[in-house]
Amino acid sequence: MSVPVPSVLVVDDDEAIRRMLTAVLTKEGVAVAAAQDGVEATEAFRRRHADVVLMDIRMPRMSGLDAMKAILEVDRGAAVILMTAFAEVGTAVKAMRDGAFDYVIKPFDIEEIRLLVRRALEIRTMRADIVSLRRELSERYGAEGILTENPRMMELRQTVAKVARSNATVLIQGESGTGKELVAAAVHYGSPRATGPFVKVNCAAIPEGLLESEFFGHEKGAFTGAVGRRQGRFEQAEHGTLFLDEIGEISTGLQVKLLRVLQEREFERVGGANPIKTDVRIVAATNRDLDSMVKAGTFRQDLFFRLNVVTLKTIPLRDRPEDIRLLATHFLERFTAQNDVVIRGFDPAAIDCMLAYAWPGNVRELANAVERAVVMSTTSVILPEDLPESVVKPERNPLAAAGVESPADLDGVEVGRPLRELVNEFETKVIRAALAHNGGNRARTAVALGISRRALLYKLQDYGLGAREGAE
Ligand SMILES: Nc1ncnc2c1ncn2[C@@H]1O[C@H](COP(=O)(O)OP(=O)(O)OP(=O)(O)O)[C@@H](O)[C@H]1O
Ligand SMILES: [Mg+2]
Repeated sequence: MSVPVPSVLVVDDDEAIRRMLTAVLTKEGVAVAAAQDGVEATEAFRRRHADVVLMDIRMPRMSGLDAMKAILEVDRGAAVILMTAFAEVGTAVKAMRDGAFDYVIKPFDIEEIRLLVRRALEIRTMRADIVSLRRELSERYGAEGILTENPRMMELRQTVAKVARSNATVLIQGESGTGKELVAAAVHYGSPRATGPFVKVNCAAIPEGLLESEFFGHEKGAFTGAVGRRQGRFEQAEHGTLFLDEIGEISTGLQVKLLRVLQEREFERVGGANPIKTDVRIVAATNRDLDSMVKAGTFRQDLFFRLNVVTLKTIPLRDRPEDIRLLATHFLERFTAQNDVVIRGFDPAAIDCMLAYAWPGNVRELANAVERAVVMSTTSVILPEDLPESVVKPERNPLAAAGVESPADLDGVEVGRPLRELVNEFETKVIRAALAHNGGNRARTAVALGISRRALLYKLQDYGLGAREGAE
């Protein structure tokens, strides 16, 4: 890759100065062009942008200040260094406000010019680096990074891009592994705060007692063990975004403190007396149902409202099967590159297995399955046997396949037998229990079960419970 030669435009009506500067800077390895007044300078700059412009102020036809304005209109990033007589320093200082990079007073020391030009070039390179890094980050982590072919997720992606530009607090709700953190990062990297920090706090991972100091920092000696002053996450995230993951896990005490920061935009360090102003955007996420936590009184309603300015809901993978192949291919590319192996794709049978599986751990589980397959694979395609057993043979683990996380819901019932049989068994148990409870009285049992006496008699016959005539 060729590195472009840095360029400087020297503008002065004094030919001796033009020559001297051209000679000095050329020796520095800089491409130098020269102009003798403002008009010539703007024309030259339009033809060919320069990184740095050394500009005399007083010149015929067009002043250095007007030429500077014209040049900055063409390229906001150009560094204009004004050269001024001592009597006109005031003008140069004012020009700093209009975007001049710096000024030097004539007669100047050549070493001073050399340093200024070098510094201007360095800053220009740094700015260009920041711009390209920022572009790279927002491409990688912006909304475009949310891969999907599902219409509802596409809508979500559009909403993410839209709300990112605002400063609104965002609440992300969704099952574990569905991409909540990915969405949070997209909100940050798609926002004007993208060059600021993206700071994450996992509220579930930090012990309750330490959470306040984690959020707000502490002063030296605020509590045993607080040996020095410490910045909290709010301070670290200044001018950026604070991502509060697992927000459903914070105590009611901390909920009050967080609410205050959201309302007043200021906080105090633990053990500190002075409020600190904060400019932080909050994005919170949870896989819990905050609505019902509010109803149950474990999550403050006022905080919920504050967080819930915009809600984004991620969708379980089982509800968007069209994404399985897309994401699997995406992860295959990632993990083959990381492991330096070549695998062309998936065997159709492996795809079928993945499509048939319910992915209770969502995209994260899919990523792990593909990573494992890449490691296990001995051929140029991923075969079913390279996938985890839970994916290939879901009947061995029917609960996971059904998306049921806890077998308690099924009360120890063996899944895999005909539904009718299971239901009959269950009804028999219930009717027996109800009969026993009602001393064998069928009329009362029917009432208790909410069915007619006739229906109960049918069932008793059906289940072979009617053989013995009970008391009527
Ligand atoms: N639509 C998507 N496109 C690309 N990658 C995705 C997508 N969804 C999720 N991922 C990837 O899957 C993994 C899990 O996603 P993420 O960590 O964002 O989920 P989460 O909802 O925060 O999970 P948890 O609740 O377990 O913290 C990450 O590696 C993420 O980059
Ligand atoms: Mg997460």
